[in-house]
Amino acid sequence: MEPLIELRGVNKHYGDLHVLRDINLTVGRGEVVVVIGPSGSGKSTLCRTINRLETVGSGTITLAGEPLPAEGRELARLRSEVGMVFQSFNLFAHKTALANVMLAPVKVRGRKKEEAEARARELLGRVGLAEHADKYPAQLSGGQQQRVAIARALAMDPQALLFDEPTSALDPEMISEVLEVMQQLARDGMTMVVVTHEMGFARSAANRVVFMADGQIVEDRVPEEFFTAPRSARAQDFLSKILKH
Ligand SMILES: Nc1ncnc2c1ncn2[C@@H]1O[C@H](COP(=O)(O)OP(=O)(O)O)[C@@H](O)[C@H]1O
Ligand SMILES: [Mg+2]
Repeated sequence: MEPLIELRGVNKHYGDLHVLRDINLTVGRGEVVVVIGPSGSGKSTLCRTINRLETVGSGTITLAGEPLPAEGRELARLRSEVGMVFQSFNLFAHKTALANVMLAPVKVRGRKKEEAEARARELLGRVGLAEHADKYPAQLSGGQQQRVAIARALAMDPQALLFDEPTSALDPEMISEVLEVMQQLARDGMTMVVVTHEMGFARSAANRVVFMADGQIVEDRVPEEFFTAPRSARAQDFLSKILKH
């Protein structure tokens, strides 16, 4: 499999806290990697370094063989090639769903308005929101807002998508509608790194599960193996806690 995202010997500190410890991770093109682990283990930081929202202390991160650019125009281009979906949706409140999805293609990519609108409507259709294009975020449920955020990320035609706990802020009945959209993206061959505690999604959509603890990758396994026979005490303990409730 062609590597798309590669981290080699990545370390990061926040002051005295060694938040990423010698991270080595390869995500192949078209692969879905689910990242799980206890709170504070460095999952969000890992996502943010891949998108270069955070710098690293040492090590290298490459996208399609190219090192991540440090700043400027090249960095903006990288950001558009690796989309990110956050727990908190982050939509512009004063813009409609359609305007949210159109914004970056017009502003960053310089697309024509009509072209960007047609594509935005198509993407809103793909996430099941064709009828809601003209609504504002406050008029949409959390699950609908998160699907708009996914459409917005897709509008930049990214090479990969990073999801940081995309369903954690949602009421239970809305989780599945978001996971279904993500399942479809996975089937369509999108490269995805997904931080989630949704084990059903991990089992059915992931090619690999990466388990993090204390800033380290402790296990990097095929889902079925990881869930049925975790090797480390940390993973066994973590799984017993989340599978219990
Ligand atoms: N901007 C920051 N400054 C200082 N410490 C941070 C910052 N962001 C995260 N941390 C710390 O780094 C550790 C890992 O955080 P994070 O990556 O958010 O973990 P996770 O997403 O697995 O819960 C935590 O101990 C957290 O408190
Ligand atoms: Mg986090």
